Amino acid sequence: MAQLVGAITTSHVPAIGKAIARDLQQEAYWKPFFDSFPPVHSWLQQARPDVAVVIYNDHGLNFFLDKMPTFSVGAAPSYSGADEGWGLPVGLPFPGNEDLSWHLVNSLVADEFDITTCQEMLVDHALTLPMKLLWPKAEQQGAWPVTIVPVCLNTVLFPLPTPARCYKLGLAIGRAIASWQSDKRVVVVGTGGLSHQLDGERAGFINKQFDQQFMQSLASDPLWATKYSIPELVEQVGTQGIELLMWLTARATLSGVGGGGARELHSSYHIPISNTAAGVMLFEPAAQQMRQEEALAA
Ligand code: DHB
Ligand code: FE
Repeated sequence: MAQLVGAITTSHVPAIGKAIARDLQQEAYWKPFFDSFPPVHSWLQQARPDVAVVIYNDHGLNFFLDKMPTFSVGAAPSYSGADEGWGLPVGLPFPGNEDLSWHLVNSLVADEFDITTCQEMLVDHALTLPMKLLWPKAEQQGAWPVTIVPVCLNTVLFPLPTPARCYKLGLAIGRAIASWQSDKRVVVVGTGGLSHQLDGERAGFINKQFDQQFMQSLASDPLWATKYSIPELVEQVGTQGIELLMWLTARATLSGVGGGGARELHSSYHIPISNTAAGVMLFEPAAQQMRQEEALAA
């Protein structure tokens, strides 16, 4: 069976792409943000995932207001970015993992998640930038070290899925990965947030206290955010800060695995990147942690 090795959550602000394209990672504005990734790189080297399930929200590149699935899953042989108007270079396409895509699609539908299956899918900055952050040398080397399965959540057009529904989706994704007949190692990535609002009277809104409480809850009480309604969450984190639903979904994938929950290995929070409170977190299944501890003790 496949092994779910961990979950990583990160922000996906387009300006990060400009900083990477211009090699500004060590400049004062960018350094604190980029410096939060080497611990994740070290973990990836040791965890050696073969596949990344990337939970993200499209911003109008693949889906527009006329057709907006609540949940969609990519089942394509490869995925490309495209010009979104941010001036970002379109990088190396991402190889898809069609076997896991179809297993995930079948498993989710059987689990009563009536998702939209996409055999063609453009992926925007919410997928491409986290991939560059996690594997910064891949494009120079000419190959991504993982195949991917994109999972897209609507956070653009109301009605949005509730936090409780997203949590259940994460559980179902975790179950699907665990039942995939494969020897592959799978990492789940959730992208977006944290608090930000790009439009309206509250443009520029950031809520450090709520963000930090939310991050803490992912480590110690992952159901905490599920008690909020969407309007309550928007009030706390801003219209675009609602993207933290992707963090909740990604973290929930670990909640059903081996019944052991998750252990936080790394966490970082930085204000601001562009208009956004930016963060990174890394979790490992607690059951796996126990197995590693057992192996060390043996
Ligand atoms: C910004 C943040 C986002 O999440 C996004 O999708 C676009 C822009 C920003 O802060 O600039
Ligand atoms: Fe966004």
